[in-house]
Amino acid sequence: MVDVREAAKALAGARRVVVFTGAGISAESGVPTFRDALTGLWERYDAQALATPQAFEDDPDLVWGWYEWRRSLIRRVHPNPGHEAVAAIEAHAPHALVVTQNVDDLHERAGSRAPIHLHGSLFTPRCAACSRPAEPGPGDEPEEGRRLAPPRCGCGGAIRPGVVWFGEALPEEALEEAVQAATDCDVLLTVGTSGVVYPAAEIPKVASMFGGTVIQVNPQPTPLDAVATINLHGSAAVVLPELVSAAWPERAAAGS
Ligand code: APR
Repeated sequence: MVDVREAAKALAGARRVVVFTGAGISAESGVPTFRDALTGLWERYDAQALATPQAFEDDPDLVWGWYEWRRSLIRRVHPNPGHEAVAAIEAHAPHALVVTQNVDDLHERAGSRAPIHLHGSLFTPRCAACSRPAEPGPGDEPEEGRRLAPPRCGCGGAIRPGVVWFGEALPEEALEEAVQAATDCDVLLTVGTSGVVYPAAEIPKVASMFGGTVIQVNPQPTPLDAVATINLHGSAAVVLPELVSAAWPERAAAGS
Protein backbone atom coordinates (compact mmCIF):
# COMPACT_ATOMS: atom_id res chain seq x y z
CA MET A 1 0.00 0.00 0.00
CA VAL A 2 2.90 2.35 0.81
CA ASP A 3 4.29 1.64 -2.64
CA VAL A 4 0.93 2.34 -4.29
CA ARG A 5 0.74 5.67 -2.48
CA GLU A 6 4.27 6.56 -3.52
CA ALA A 7 3.54 5.54 -7.12
CA ALA A 8 0.28 7.50 -7.10
CA LYS A 9 2.08 10.60 -5.91
CA ALA A 10 4.61 10.34 -8.75
CA LEU A 11 1.82 9.75 -11.27
CA ALA A 12 -0.38 12.60 -10.08
CA GLY A 13 2.59 15.00 -10.16
CA ALA A 14 3.75 14.00 -13.64
CA ARG A 15 3.20 16.17 -16.69
CA ARG A 16 4.29 13.53 -19.18
CA VAL A 17 3.38 9.90 -18.67
CA VAL A 18 4.11 6.85 -20.81
CA VAL A 19 2.17 3.65 -20.15
CA PHE A 20 4.08 0.71 -21.61
CA THR A 21 2.10 -2.53 -21.72
CA GLY A 22 2.60 -6.19 -22.55
CA ALA A 23 0.55 -9.36 -22.72
CA GLY A 24 -0.05 -9.40 -18.93
CA ILE A 25 -2.54 -6.54 -19.12
CA SER A 26 -4.79 -8.58 -21.43
CA ALA A 27 -4.38 -11.83 -19.48
CA GLU A 28 -7.32 -11.04 -17.19
CA SER A 29 -9.52 -10.46 -20.25
CA GLY A 30 -8.85 -14.08 -21.19
CA VAL A 31 -6.13 -13.52 -23.78
CA PRO A 32 -3.34 -15.95 -23.01
CA THR A 33 0.10 -14.32 -22.72
CA PHE A 34 2.37 -15.12 -25.61
CA ARG A 35 4.33 -17.63 -23.63
CA ASP A 36 1.09 -19.35 -22.54
CA ALA A 37 -0.63 -19.01 -25.91
CA LEU A 38 -0.16 -22.49 -27.24
CA THR A 39 -2.61 -24.38 -25.17
CA GLY A 40 -5.30 -26.77 -26.29
CA LEU A 41 -5.03 -27.90 -29.85
CA TRP A 42 -2.14 -25.56 -30.57
CA GLU A 43 -0.07 -27.17 -27.84
CA ARG A 44 2.05 -29.21 -30.20
CA TYR A 45 3.38 -26.09 -31.94
CA ASP A 46 6.12 -23.75 -30.81
CA ALA A 47 4.92 -20.11 -30.58
CA GLN A 48 8.33 -18.75 -31.38
CA ALA A 49 8.51 -20.97 -34.46
CA LEU A 50 5.04 -19.85 -35.67
CA ALA A 51 5.79 -16.14 -35.32
CA THR A 52 8.45 -15.84 -38.03
CA PRO A 53 8.48 -14.89 -41.72
CA GLN A 54 10.02 -18.29 -42.43
CA ALA A 55 7.11 -20.12 -40.79
CA PHE A 56 4.64 -18.20 -42.98
CA GLU A 57 6.66 -18.98 -46.08
CA ASP A 58 6.90 -22.67 -45.19
CA ASP A 59 3.29 -23.18 -44.09
CA PRO A 60 1.08 -20.12 -44.68
CA ASP A 61 -2.14 -22.01 -43.88
CA LEU A 62 -0.88 -23.07 -40.47
CA VAL A 63 0.31 -19.58 -39.51
CA TRP A 64 -2.76 -17.77 -40.93
CA GLY A 65 -5.05 -20.27 -39.16
CA TRP A 66 -3.30 -19.59 -35.86
CA TYR A 67 -3.52 -15.81 -36.18
CA GLU A 68 -7.16 -15.91 -37.33
CA TRP A 69 -7.97 -18.09 -34.36
CA ARG A 70 -6.28 -15.56 -32.05
CA ARG A 71 -8.17 -12.70 -33.74
CA SER A 72 -11.49 -14.49 -33.25
CA LEU A 73 -10.61 -15.10 -29.59
CA ILE A 74 -9.88 -11.40 -29.08
CA ARG A 75 -13.16 -10.40 -30.71
CA ARG A 76 -14.98 -12.44 -28.09
CA VAL A 77 -13.29 -10.91 -25.01
CA HIS A 78 -13.58 -7.49 -23.39
CA PRO A 79 -11.21 -4.91 -21.91
CA ASN A 80 -10.70 -5.37 -18.17
CA PRO A 81 -10.32 -2.80 -15.34
CA GLY A 82 -6.58 -2.63 -16.13
CA HIS A 83 -7.23 -1.33 -19.67
CA GLU A 84 -9.89 1.01 -18.27
CA ALA A 85 -7.46 2.40 -15.69
CA VAL A 86 -4.95 3.09 -18.46
CA ALA A 87 -7.59 5.08 -20.33
CA ALA A 88 -8.33 6.96 -17.09
CA ILE A 89 -4.64 7.85 -16.76
CA GLU A 90 -4.77 9.26 -20.28
CA ALA A 91 -7.82 11.30 -19.32
CA HIS A 92 -6.27 12.68 -16.11
CA ALA A 93 -2.57 13.25 -16.92
CA PRO A 94 -1.71 16.42 -18.87
CA HIS A 95 0.17 14.38 -21.52
CA ALA A 96 0.01 10.61 -21.72
CA LEU A 97 0.93 8.10 -24.37
CA VAL A 98 0.17 4.38 -24.39
CA VAL A 99 2.84 2.21 -25.98
CA THR A 100 1.84 -1.42 -26.25
CA GLN A 101 3.52 -4.59 -27.42
CA ASN A 102 0.10 -6.21 -27.71
CA VAL A 103 -1.46 -7.01 -31.05
CA ASP A 104 -5.02 -6.96 -29.64
CA ASP A 105 -7.30 -3.90 -29.69
CA LEU A 106 -8.32 -3.90 -26.02
CA HIS A 107 -6.69 -0.53 -25.22
CA GLU A 108 -8.68 1.11 -28.01
CA ARG A 109 -11.89 -0.60 -26.88
CA ALA A 110 -11.30 0.65 -23.31
CA GLY A 111 -11.07 4.23 -24.60
CA SER A 112 -7.35 4.81 -25.10
CA ARG A 113 -6.92 7.40 -27.82
CA ALA A 114 -4.14 6.30 -30.11
CA PRO A 115 -1.99 3.61 -28.56
CA ILE A 116 1.27 2.93 -30.37
CA HIS A 117 1.40 -0.73 -31.40
CA LEU A 118 5.10 -1.54 -31.42
CA HIS A 119 4.49 -5.11 -32.58
CA GLY A 120 1.70 -4.33 -35.04
CA SER A 121 -1.91 -5.46 -34.82
CA LEU A 122 -4.07 -8.46 -35.62
CA PHE A 123 -6.48 -6.06 -37.30
CA THR A 124 -4.16 -4.62 -39.97
CA PRO A 125 -3.40 -7.46 -42.41
CA ARG A 126 -1.39 -6.67 -45.51
CA CYS A 127 -0.02 -8.33 -48.61
CA ALA A 128 3.18 -10.29 -47.94
CA ALA A 129 4.40 -9.47 -51.45
CA CYS A 130 3.44 -5.84 -52.18
CA SER A 131 2.62 -4.66 -48.59
CA ARG A 132 -0.73 -3.18 -49.69
CA PRO A 133 -3.08 -3.05 -46.65
CA ALA A 134 -5.91 -5.57 -46.78
CA GLU A 135 -9.32 -5.43 -45.15
CA PRO A 136 -9.54 -7.67 -42.10
CA GLY A 137 -11.98 -10.45 -43.01
CA PRO A 138 -15.30 -10.96 -41.27
CA GLY A 139 -13.47 -12.93 -38.56
CA ASP A 140 -15.26 -16.23 -38.97
CA GLU A 141 -14.63 -18.53 -36.11
CA PRO A 142 -11.88 -20.83 -37.29
CA GLU A 143 -11.72 -23.99 -35.28
CA GLU A 144 -8.89 -24.19 -32.82
CA GLY A 145 -5.89 -25.92 -34.36
CA ARG A 146 -7.25 -25.65 -37.94
CA ARG A 147 -5.24 -24.55 -40.95
CA LEU A 148 -6.73 -21.75 -43.02
CA ALA A 149 -5.56 -20.57 -46.43
CA PRO A 150 -4.74 -16.83 -46.35
CA PRO A 151 -6.73 -14.63 -48.74
CA ARG A 152 -4.96 -13.35 -51.85
CA CYS A 153 -4.09 -9.76 -52.73
CA GLY A 154 -4.92 -8.33 -56.18
CA CYS A 155 -1.22 -8.78 -57.02
CA GLY A 156 -1.45 -12.50 -56.29
CA GLY A 157 0.53 -12.35 -53.03
CA ALA A 158 -0.70 -13.95 -49.83
CA ILE A 159 -2.25 -11.75 -47.15
CA ARG A 160 -0.30 -11.91 -43.90
CA PRO A 161 -1.09 -10.71 -40.37
CA GLY A 162 -0.05 -7.12 -39.64
CA VAL A 163 2.12 -8.15 -36.73
CA VAL A 164 5.87 -7.92 -36.22
CA TRP A 165 7.42 -11.37 -36.32
CA PHE A 166 10.66 -12.46 -34.70
CA GLY A 167 13.52 -11.30 -36.87
CA GLU A 168 11.51 -8.40 -38.36
CA ALA A 169 12.10 -4.71 -37.73
CA LEU A 170 9.62 -2.76 -35.63
CA PRO A 171 7.65 -0.04 -37.42
CA GLU A 172 10.21 2.76 -37.52
CA GLU A 173 7.95 5.73 -36.81
CA ALA A 174 6.20 3.97 -33.93
CA LEU A 175 9.52 3.04 -32.33
CA GLU A 176 10.89 6.56 -32.73
CA GLU A 177 7.79 8.11 -31.20
CA ALA A 178 7.90 5.67 -28.28
CA VAL A 179 11.60 6.27 -27.60
CA GLN A 180 11.12 10.04 -27.79
CA ALA A 181 8.20 9.87 -25.36
CA ALA A 182 10.27 7.70 -22.98
CA THR A 183 13.12 10.20 -23.18
CA ASP A 184 10.81 13.10 -22.29
CA CYS A 185 8.54 11.50 -19.70
CA ASP A 186 8.34 12.17 -15.97
CA VAL A 187 6.78 8.77 -15.24
CA LEU A 188 6.82 5.54 -17.20
CA LEU A 189 4.43 2.87 -16.03
CA THR A 190 5.40 -0.60 -17.30
CA VAL A 191 2.58 -3.13 -17.00
CA GLY A 192 2.44 -6.87 -17.66
CA THR A 193 5.54 -7.35 -19.72
CA SER A 194 8.34 -9.84 -19.18
CA GLY A 195 10.78 -7.22 -20.48
CA VAL A 196 12.83 -9.72 -22.42
CA VAL A 197 11.94 -8.91 -26.04
CA TYR A 198 14.10 -6.20 -27.61
CA PRO A 199 14.10 -3.46 -28.75
CA ALA A 200 10.75 -2.85 -26.97
CA ALA A 201 12.28 -3.72 -23.60
CA GLU A 202 14.67 -0.76 -24.00
CA ILE A 203 11.81 1.70 -23.54
CA PRO A 204 11.57 1.58 -19.72
CA LYS A 205 15.36 1.70 -19.62
CA VAL A 206 15.42 4.84 -21.77
CA ALA A 207 12.90 6.50 -19.44
CA SER A 208 15.03 5.62 -16.42
CA MET A 209 18.25 6.77 -18.10
CA PHE A 210 16.71 10.16 -18.85
CA GLY A 211 15.51 10.67 -15.29
CA GLY A 212 11.93 9.37 -15.47
CA THR A 213 10.40 7.51 -12.55
CA VAL A 214 9.68 3.93 -13.65
CA ILE A 215 6.75 2.18 -11.96
CA GLN A 216 6.31 -1.51 -12.71
CA VAL A 217 3.11 -3.55 -12.27
CA ASN A 218 3.64 -7.31 -12.54
CA PRO A 219 2.83 -10.24 -10.25
CA GLN A 220 6.17 -11.88 -11.12
CA PRO A 221 9.76 -10.68 -10.95
CA THR A 222 11.17 -9.51 -14.29
CA PRO A 223 14.49 -8.12 -15.49
CA LEU A 224 12.82 -4.67 -15.26
CA ASP A 225 12.76 -4.96 -11.43
CA ALA A 226 16.25 -3.51 -11.47
CA VAL A 227 15.19 -0.57 -13.65
CA ALA A 228 11.98 0.26 -11.81
CA THR A 229 11.96 2.92 -9.12
CA ILE A 230 8.79 1.39 -7.66
CA ASN A 231 7.70 -2.24 -8.09
CA LEU A 232 4.02 -2.99 -7.55
CA HIS A 233 3.60 -6.74 -7.31
CA GLY A 234 0.11 -7.68 -8.36
CA SER A 235 -2.21 -8.06 -11.29
CA ALA A 236 -2.94 -5.16 -13.63
CA ALA A 237 -6.71 -5.37 -13.19
CA VAL A 238 -6.34 -4.93 -9.42
CA VAL A 239 -3.32 -2.65 -9.05
CA LEU A 240 -4.01 -0.13 -11.83
CA PRO A 241 -7.49 0.92 -10.60
CA GLU A 242 -6.03 1.29 -7.08
CA LEU A 243 -3.28 3.46 -8.47
CA VAL A 244 -5.70 5.69 -10.39
CA SER A 245 -7.98 6.11 -7.36
CA ALA A 246 -5.00 6.99 -5.17
CA ALA A 247 -3.55 9.41 -7.73
CA TRP A 248 -6.76 11.32 -8.48
CA PRO A 249 -9.05 10.64 -5.47
CA GLU A 250 -11.51 13.50 -6.12
CA ARG A 251 -12.04 12.51 -9.73
CA ALA A 252 -12.39 8.84 -8.78
CA ALA A 253 -15.07 9.81 -6.24
CA ALA A 254 -16.85 11.88 -8.90
CA GLY A 255 -16.81 8.82 -11.15
CA SER A 256 -14.85 10.50 -13.94
N1 APR B 1 -1.18 -8.49 -14.59
C1 APR B 1 0.06 -8.00 -14.85
N2 APR B 1 1.03 -8.76 -15.37
C2 APR B 1 0.77 -10.04 -15.64
C3 APR B 1 -0.50 -10.61 -15.41
C4 APR B 1 -1.49 -9.78 -14.85
N3 APR B 1 -2.72 -10.23 -14.59
N4 APR B 1 -0.46 -11.92 -15.80
C5 APR B 1 0.77 -12.14 -16.26
N5 APR B 1 1.53 -11.02 -16.16
C6 APR B 1 2.92 -10.80 -16.56
C7 APR B 1 3.80 -12.02 -16.48
O1 APR B 1 4.32 -12.16 -15.16
C8 APR B 1 4.87 -11.70 -17.52
O2 APR B 1 5.92 -10.96 -16.92
O3 APR B 1 2.89 -10.46 -17.93
C9 APR B 1 4.13 -10.81 -18.52
C10 APR B 1 3.84 -11.46 -19.87
O4 APR B 1 5.03 -11.74 -20.49
P1 APR B 1 5.10 -12.22 -22.01
O5 APR B 1 4.15 -13.32 -22.26
O6 APR B 1 6.55 -12.44 -22.29
O7 APR B 1 4.53 -10.96 -22.82
P2 APR B 1 5.25 -9.66 -23.36
O8 APR B 1 6.22 -9.13 -22.39
O9 APR B 1 4.17 -8.76 -23.82
O10 APR B 1 6.03 -10.23 -24.61
C11 APR B 1 6.71 -9.32 -25.42
O11 APR B 1 7.23 -10.96 -27.04
O12 APR B 1 6.20 -12.81 -27.65
C12 APR B 1 6.61 -11.62 -28.14
O13 APR B 1 5.82 -10.07 -29.73
C13 APR B 1 5.43 -10.81 -28.59
O14 APR B 1 4.71 -8.64 -27.86
C14 APR B 1 5.21 -9.86 -27.41
C15 APR B 1 6.62 -9.71 -26.85
